[in-house]
Amino acid sequence: MRNIKIPKNRIRKLRTLSIGDKKYYLETINKKGFKEKLIDLCSNDYFGLSRDNEVIEAAHKSSRIEGLGSGSSLFISGSRPVHNTLEKEIAKWLDREKVLLFPSGFQANIAAIQALANRNTIVIADKYIHNSLITGIKASGGKLIRFLHNNLSDLENKLTKFKPERKSLLVIIESLYSMEGSLAPLNKIIKLCNKYNAKLIIDEAHALGIVGNFGKGLSYKLKDPIQIVCGTFGKAFGSGGAFLACDEETCEKIIQTSSAFRYTTALSPALAAGALSSLQKIKNNKYWGRDLLAFSHKWKEEIRNVTNYSVIGDCHIISIIIGSEDDTLLMQKYLEKNGFLAIAIRPPTIPVGESRIRITVKKTLNERILKDFVSVLKDFK
Ligand SMILES: Cc1ncc(COP(=O)(O)O)c(C=O)c1O
Repeated sequence: MRNIKIPKNRIRKLRTLSIGDKKYYLETINKKGFKEKLIDLCSNDYFGLSRDNEVIEAAHKSSRIEGLGSGSSLFISGSRPVHNTLEKEIAKWLDREKVLLFPSGFQANIAAIQALANRNTIVIADKYIHNSLITGIKASGGKLIRFLHNNLSDLENKLTKFKPERKSLLVIIESLYSMEGSLAPLNKIIKLCNKYNAKLIIDEAHALGIVGNFGKGLSYKLKDPIQIVCGTFGKAFGSGGAFLACDEETCEKIIQTSSAFRYTTALSPALAAGALSSLQKIKNNKYWGRDLLAFSHKWKEEIRNVTNYSVIGDCHIISIIIGSEDDTLLMQKYLEKNGFLAIAIRPPTIPVGESRIRITVKKTLNERILKDFVSVLKDFK
């Protein structure tokens, strides 16, 4: 680490976890070499589908028929029937003209921005958008302007201020922010985009499956100025990979011009088949999202009852704002010692002074776990 200058308390350590015998358990090997079970309060496997037998069987079956890996990009020879089926099914589910698959959401976001922004674009993005979107904006050559999180008057100020400078305006938001757990005021943002003739990209990574009309996200049924909806299969779908949903023209532009789409090995057929099976489950279980949101509300209220720290989150992502990085790490260690894996989120992921313990509520958790968690949290000193 001689050439990397990172403060000691910001150095991240990789660790390996195995899955435990219950859907809410992860296992680690402790310092004494013994297996230790931890309750997973941090993964994005919101419905536990990564460990669902039918979803796993669908992936397994597809591997036998279509191969484990795709072997090349979609353009060369990596495209399999399961890719086409998944694209069509997602397009139908979200009522969008076209869907394109990607091996990861990080790449999908880069491709989305590359399709809509260039040196002549002013990209006005919420302060809390995901790093993949920032990377995409930088790669596009567009000029990045940030507006305060979910702040409509700041967004309007920026739209007014920068409009005359260059030719096109692109606004980028998430529907459910991964760190704040906050929902975007989408209808009002749409009005502003229309008023200033700006295009809109919305990343629905954390909302899909849970939020909106039967889990179809906040952007379902909303068209102009939304140009691209980004979704991932690595969260509520319990698989991996991602997609962009858009109109035919935008889709064709991505296919013909996007390097993030073109120069990468296509999504594994097994992951596509797993995602397809998860989609079926999410469609068949219309109230999973609604029930998870109600359960999450309960988590938030119960946590609030036992801590003086501020507790935020509109949906299933809940953050306990501690402030100091060291104190947040202490809480993470304390929780882990008591059997809960909830991760300290620190700068540069979030601003200095806003370090937090982030909790993701999942369908696999239960009331007893909630009770145990709050009783442990109550005793944190
Ligand atoms: C909002 C958001 N967008 C995109 C991504 C990237 O998705 P993936 O993990 O599939 O690369 C993430 C992942 O953490 C995310 O939280």
